[in-house]
Amino acid sequence: MDDDLRTRHHDGPVDDAAAASLERIGLELRLVPNARPAVDGWLHAVSRGFLDPEPADEQIAASMAAGGYRRRIGVFDPGSPQSEVPVGTFASWAAEVSVPGGVAVPMAAISAVTVAPTHQRRGIARAMMEGKLRHAASLGIPLAGLTVSESTIYGRYGFAPAVPATEWVIDTKRATWAGPVAPGRVDAIPRDLARRLAPVVHERIRVHRPGEIAIPPGHWDRFTGTNPDADKPGRIRAVQYADPSGTVRGVALYTATENHDDFTKSRVRITSLVAEDAQAYAGLWRYFIELALIATVTASELSTDEPLWWMISDQRAATITLNDHHYLRVLDIPAALQGRRYHAAGAVVLDVADPVGISGGRWLLETDAAGIGRVRPDDGPDASDIPVVRLGTTELSAAYLGAVSLATLAAAGRVETTDAAAAARVLSWPEAPQLSFWY
Ligand SMILES: CC(C)(COP(=O)(O)OP(=O)(O)OC[C@H]1O[C@@H](n2cnc3c(N)ncnc32)[C@H](O)[C@@H]1OP(=O)(O)O)[C@@H](O)C(=O)NCCC(=O)NCCS
Repeated sequence: MDDDLRTRHHDGPVDDAAAASLERIGLELRLVPNARPAVDGWLHAVSRGFLDPEPADEQIAASMAAGGYRRRIGVFDPGSPQSEVPVGTFASWAAEVSVPGGVAVPMAAISAVTVAPTHQRRGIARAMMEGKLRHAASLGIPLAGLTVSESTIYGRYGFAPAVPATEWVIDTKRATWAGPVAPGRVDAIPRDLARRLAPVVHERIRVHRPGEIAIPPGHWDRFTGTNPDADKPGRIRAVQYADPSGTVRGVALYTATENHDDFTKSRVRITSLVAEDAQAYAGLWRYFIELALIATVTASELSTDEPLWWMISDQRAATITLNDHHYLRVLDIPAALQGRRYHAAGAVVLDVADPVGISGGRWLLETDAAGIGRVRPDDGPDASDIPVVRLGTTELSAAYLGAVSLATLAAAGRVETTDAAAAARVLSWPEAPQLSFWY
């Protein structure tokens, strides 16, 4: 990702149409600089929106130190008794999301979307979101993405859960380890070392895992408890896996909670597990499955197709819950489709209706045996040998990384197609996407 795009995304003016629609209801849309006291008011609003207590001074300082990469937007009500605290907040940054084929595509990452309870259902969130989508599209960013508090909010703007996640609760007394014994070693490490190592391992795997984005440094500080405002950082434990040559290939972070009534029924929650290869994965997971005194291990933001399920002796020892997790939204159809690679040679016509009018239209996608896709406008009429799919931006975004097939969406009545199996084959990808954190 080039720095120029990052800067233009960060500093560009607010969207005129969004500002005008908010002005009509007496509100002001403004960029919020990374400086006090502007950030104080903005963070107070975000905390209120997410039902958190008021941020303490050190949290504000920490957020400023770590959060400068974010473009912060506020909607202000001049009539409010606290006019410096926005009634709407929105953050975004120019990121890149990994897509099939070991490549990454620019993506506008969105976060901190809140509207004050006193001002909800007046169109404030819609104005901010539509303004953001236009802003990103105007910069040529082909995708937008976010993780959500509620599944029902973002489909109307063309977002879909393109990277589902699973949450695991493992009864470790029942799930004995049946996977390979990794040749390297697992060792406990201090948190500050984990803070240095884990991002390096994650960066090595990120681009090879569709759905993943770079984890911002402030998030790593939270995961490892190395942020200045950390609450009980000593609860966080860290282990590394090193291969036989001594190179660290995996890091895991977790907290343990003792069961005072029965020590052998204590619990571990894995907050992050990054493994660069199959051996590191096996080494770290075996460590957790075999931990003394632990009866339950929980982990979330895993993929829908974890090797772990095939590494325990009793699959029913794992209770797996499917979640929607990472939402994507295609903003530029040719750029998004040409950005990823393909598993099968073929062709499909995608006739896309965009609920917000940013992208859409009828496009022919042709993929070759080398995995390259080419996209051009298609004027019709329907050809007999190329499947045609009529779908919304939401459905295109859902199928973009291959997490759901067009055949499944057709069976669900979400897309119409002349040949579901052929259409599905073109966008399919053999690996389940994953995003290993929330943003
Ligand atoms: C979700 C939230 C940002 C919506 O803000 P808002 O300004 O009230 O939303 P708008 O008035 O712009 O509503 C736009 C559309 O979304 C719908 N909508 C709003 N909140 C919704 C919700 N929680 N669930 C489903 N739909 C919702 C509205 O009905 C409206 O629909 P329509 O335009 O298609 O008729 C706000 O309720 C909020 O801050 N919630 C708490 C924090 C949160 O969960 N933020 C989201 C983080 S991912």
